[in-house]
Amino acid sequence: MKDSYALITGASSGIGLEIAKNLAKRGYNLILTARRTELLESLSKEITNENNINVDIISKDLSQYEAPKEIFEFCESKNYRVDILVNNAGYGIKTSFHETSIEDEEAFIRVLGTSVIMLTKLFIPKMLENGGGKIMIVSSVASLTPPSAIQPLYGPIKTFMNRFSDGININYKNKGITSTAVCPGFTTTGFHTASGVQKEMDRVPKFMVFPASRIANEGVEAMFAGKRIFIPTKTYRTLVFLTSNLPQSLLRFISKLLAPGRYDRN
Ligand SMILES: NC(=O)c1ccc[n+]([C@@H]2O[C@H](COP(=O)([O-])OP(=O)(O)OC[C@H]3O[C@@H](n4cnc5c(N)ncnc54)[C@H](OP(=O)(O)O)[C@@H]3O)[C@@H](O)[C@H]2O)c1
Repeated sequence: MKDSYALITGASSGIGLEIAKNLAKRGYNLILTARRTELLESLSKEITNENNINVDIISKDLSQYEAPKEIFEFCESKNYRVDILVNNAGYGIKTSFHETSIEDEEAFIRVLGTSVIMLTKLFIPKMLENGGGKIMIVSSVASLTPPSAIQPLYGPIKTFMNRFSDGININYKNKGITSTAVCPGFTTTGFHTASGVQKEMDRVPKFMVFPASRIANEGVEAMFAGKRIFIPTKTYRTLVFLTSNLPQSLLRFISKLLAPGRYDRN
């Protein structure tokens, strides 16, 4: 019988790394993937030393069309049975929409969208053969709130991912596979520096910023509970409730006050 593994994309930092640590503590073997090979190697050693599990790594750039297939083939060649798939990798584009190339936008859609669909598509038949599996898609509160200055495409792709996750649930829940869209709010990770919005992030009130470990731990619990969509922390559940019920104009005004620069860049 194949060994049971959890595959985590974007595992070299932030929420993905914390999800990996959480699953390691629960005894799951891990396959960590991201682009930074040396970082993955050192994290793999660290996690292996602290837990009695196997950790393997594969560095891939998910903006490359073939990457999901190569990750899948790597798992097959090593005889790893992937029972948990965490689609977490992501970033925000630094420059304004009119300044980016079509290629930049396509790469963005691949990392946050197409690669998630491809990985899910590749691993689901295996999960069906094995009698079930768990999928997590790290989405964002941005999928449920007004458009923000982190690129006009960021929120819509995350909304698309929520709907995709839901579609997977409808099709496969009765076959033992659940998909959970986890929608974090502001989280302390490498995301804001990588996306060129660290300055805006620093101005967000402290009560709206949470550590990656908290988001990961709540997200993993929700995944194991088979929740369809999950917003970590009571703070963001309340904010999203208000978002759904307040007039958009009032909401944009409050958003500008709470996260200056993010909703009023121009
Ligand atoms: N931080 C927040 O406030 C926040 C809020 C809501 C949702 N999220 C979502 O949470 C997820 C994780 O982000 P994070 O906040 O933990 O940010 P992070 O610390 O910057 O981590 C992002 C991860 O994605 C990987 N990644 C980025 N581009 C990649 C590519 N082209 N190919 C493969 N891997 C790639 C990075 O690894 P390498 O650089 O090594 O490739 C890194 O491991 C993202 O989907 C993000 O949209 C974040």
